[in-house]
Amino acid sequence: MENTLQTMYQLAQDVKQCAYAPYSHFQVGACLLTDSGSFHVGCNVENASYGLTLCAEASALASMVASGKQKISAIVITTDSTQFCPPCGACRQRLMEFATPTMKVHLFNQEGSHQGLSMVDLFPFPFDKTFLHR
Ligand code: THU
Repeated sequence: MENTLQTMYQLAQDVKQCAYAPYSHFQVGACLLTDSGSFHVGCNVENASYGLTLCAEASALASMVASGKQKISAIVITTDSTQFCPPCGACRQRLMEFATPTMKVHLFNQEGSHQGLSMVDLFPFPFDKTFLHR
């Protein structure tokens, strides 16, 4: 595995341990790489009022924006599932706000195996800012 991807995987694995998931018991870790080379991590944060749950991708995005960065080059998402778990629909929309169609999405499963996709594969026809420009 390439060095940057290995670093992102390790950061995502570490932050996954911090996930607050007492209801689903499904911990998710995410690590974003920006165009300037910085890393930003996030984990899921559940709530007794289930609908208020924050996904790992959303928490990583908030951390990135709060540090002044707004362009994503890649994301790693890791879970303890045997499957490769993709971002939910809402997080695809959230990611697209700061991504390009070619942005790499790397999914890691429990065994540390990895599946790489492009954003366009996950979200081929996004509603984005281009519709709002007059
Ligand atoms: N979850 C994420 O963190 N990201 C996703 O894209 C899918 C779902 C979390 C939310 C919830 O805490 C748990 O996984 C089960 O849905």
